[in-house]
Amino acid sequence: MTNKNLRIGVIGAGRIGIVHSGSVNDTAGAELAVIVDAIEESAAKLAGKYGVAHTTNVEDIFTKGDVDAIIVGSPTPTHVDLISRAIDAGIHVLCEKPVDLDINRALSIKSKVSNSKTNVSIAFNRRYDPNFAAVHARVKAGEIGNLEQLVLTSRDPGEPPRAYIAVSGGIFRDQVIHDFDIARFFVGDIAEVSTFGGNLFSKDIEAENDFDTAITNLRSKDGKLVSVINSRHSSYGYDQRIEAFGSKGMLKIDNIADTTVRSYTSDHTEQRDPYMNFFLERYAASYRKELALFIESINTGKQLNPTYEDGCQALIIADAATESAKTGKVVTLK
Ligand SMILES: NC(=O)c1ccc[n+]([C@@H]2O[C@H](COP(=O)([O-])OP(=O)(O)OC[C@H]3O[C@@H](n4cnc5c(N)ncnc54)[C@H](O)[C@@H]3O)[C@@H](O)[C@H]2O)c1
Repeated sequence: MTNKNLRIGVIGAGRIGIVHSGSVNDTAGAELAVIVDAIEESAAKLAGKYGVAHTTNVEDIFTKGDVDAIIVGSPTPTHVDLISRAIDAGIHVLCEKPVDLDINRALSIKSKVSNSKTNVSIAFNRRYDPNFAAVHARVKAGEIGNLEQLVLTSRDPGEPPRAYIAVSGGIFRDQVIHDFDIARFFVGDIAEVSTFGGNLFSKDIEAENDFDTAITNLRSKDGKLVSVINSRHSSYGYDQRIEAFGSKGMLKIDNIADTTVRSYTSDHTEQRDPYMNFFLERYAASYRKELALFIESINTGKQLNPTYEDGCQALIIADAATESAKTGKVVTLK
C-alpha cells in the first residue's frame, strides 16, 4: 500500500478524537474516512467539519471494508475489544493510552496482537514530542556519556472533574502512565517501583480514593534511577519537563510558552508568556508526528513503537506505583 491514501476511521469524537481527526485531515497519505461516536450529535459534528461519513455503529468499521486503519480515541474500557476486532478484520490500529485499566484484560490479547499481521501501536505521543525526542536522540548518541538519572516532571494545570476521576483508574493509570512510558523509552525495563502518593489539595480526588500528588522513584533493570514528579494542579500552567543526567553532562528541557517574548518593566524582569495550557496545545506536534510515523510504518511493514507490549509494560508500572503508594512498600517487578 504505497501509492494510495490510507483510509482511517476515528473512533471517539471527544477531546483526543478531535485532535486525531484534524491530524488525519492534514496528513499526506491519509484520508479521513469515517467518524464513529456513541453519541450521534458528536459524530455528526466532527464528521461535518471535514465533510466525511459518520456512524454510531462501530460494526460498520469492521464489516463495510471502508477503512484500512482506525485510531481508537473512545473511552479506555473500549480499547481491548476494538483492538481485537480490528485484528480480526485485518485493520491497523493506533490506540490511545492506557491499553486498559485491568492488566489481565490487557494481557488477554497480547499473543493475538503479537501474531497479528496488522500494525497495533499505542499512542504514547510524548515519545514524538520534538523536544523529548531530541533529548532522547542526544542521550542515545552519547552526548552526556552514560545516562545515570532521569527526572520527569508532569503537572496538569488543574484537577479534572470528579466524574472523570471516578472512572480514570487513578492518577498512575491515567496521568502518570505517560511518564512511565517515557521512563522506559529512556532507561528500558523497570525492576523496582517506590511511590509516595499525597492528598494535598483536592477533596474530590481524596473522596474517590485517589491521589492528587505523587512522587515515584524507579530503578531500571540495569540500575539507572528515575524520579517522576506529578500533580493534578499547577498554578503556573502545564508543567512538562525532563532532565537527563549522565557521566559527561546533563540535558534538560523547559516548558514552552506561546511566544519567546520576554518583558522587562519597573514591576518585573524576564517575565514571559504563560506556558501552553494543556496537552492539546503543548503536544500538538507530537500527535501529528505520531500519525505520520504510524502511516509510514504501515507502508513500510515495520512495527511502530510504542507497541502493545509497551502499553502493557507501562500499565504494569502504573499498577505497581498504585500498590506502592497504598502500601508504602517498594514493589519489585518480575
Ligand atoms: N494521548 C493523550 O495525550 C490523550 C489525551 C486525552 C485522552 N487520551 C485517551 O483517549 C481516550 C479518550 O479520552 P478523551 O479525553 O478524548 O475522552 P472524551 O470523553 O472527551 O471523548 C470520548 C468520546 O468517545 C465517545 N464514546 C463513548 N463510548 C463509545 C463507544 N463505545 N464507541 C465510540 N465512541 C464512544 C464519547 O461519546 C466521547 O465523544 C482515553 O482512553 C484517554 O485516556 C489520551
